[in-house]
Amino acid sequence: MRQMISRLEKTTALDAVSDRLQSAVQAVARPKRLRDLLHGTWLGHPLHPVLVQVPVGAFMSAAVLDALPGQRKAATTLIAVGTAAAAPAIAAGWVDWSSLSRDQRRIGLIHATANAVALGLYAGSLVARSSGRWGRGRLLAYAGLSVAGGGAYLGGHLSYEQGAGMNVAAPEKLRLPADWAEVGEVASLPEGRPTVRTIDGVRVLLYRVGDDVTAMVEQCGHQGGPLGEGEIEGSGADACVVCPWHGSTFRLTDGVVQHGPAAGDQPTLRTRIRDGVLSIATP
Ligand code: FES
Repeated sequence: MRQMISRLEKTTALDAVSDRLQSAVQAVARPKRLRDLLHGTWLGHPLHPVLVQVPVGAFMSAAVLDALPGQRKAATTLIAVGTAAAAPAIAAGWVDWSSLSRDQRRIGLIHATANAVALGLYAGSLVARSSGRWGRGRLLAYAGLSVAGGGAYLGGHLSYEQGAGMNVAAPEKLRLPADWAEVGEVASLPEGRPTVRTIDGVRVLLYRVGDDVTAMVEQCGHQGGPLGEGEIEGSGADACVVCPWHGSTFRLTDGVVQHGPAAGDQPTLRTRIRDGVLSIATP
């Protein structure tokens, strides 16, 4: 299985289709509000894995009921609920997929294809059940569950092996000192624009306005983009940094994500100024 997945990750034959689909999804989901809604930026957590709980739960429960006598109607209702609930999960999944790297998109494409096949099998099961062919309906539903299981395996690989949807900045913060570490003279920091210093091998983004300095992990939580090369939007307590790779926007004072594709906040650090020297520490 591992060898097969590793081959799929390198299958460049999928790239032409993947690139065209990516442009199409980005064109459809152009409004920022729609993208933020589907990424889960408002939730502080990717929305896709939350939404898939409904169809997965409904299909699993239907599989149990299909194995019991006298539960045909209940199983059919659950399959109908699962099939309908797949629509928002699919929409969120495609929007997340459209901002992934190429190798992640290859696995994502196969994950989506497997789930589309599974959904087709469940739709076929509903049609069969509606015309009284319960045996066929049950077989199609079990086939759908098997294919969906393969799709879920690939989704797990995408998240836990390839890091899609993870906050990649979180492990960086753990490498920073819990005790105060000196960064240097505050006066040496440029005013009103981001600058980067390396502390214990971790790049830290500093932003100074007068004697106020904010600090956050410089590697963007979405896919590791260089926030130090990002634009600053807004001013004062609302000033934000915009990631140059995919446009995730984080408030500098507290790292709260304002726009996706990042769904989680950017880790920030405590700052302290003594005798004109800036120090940072993890919260
Ligand atoms: S790396 Fe994707 S938004 Fe920053």
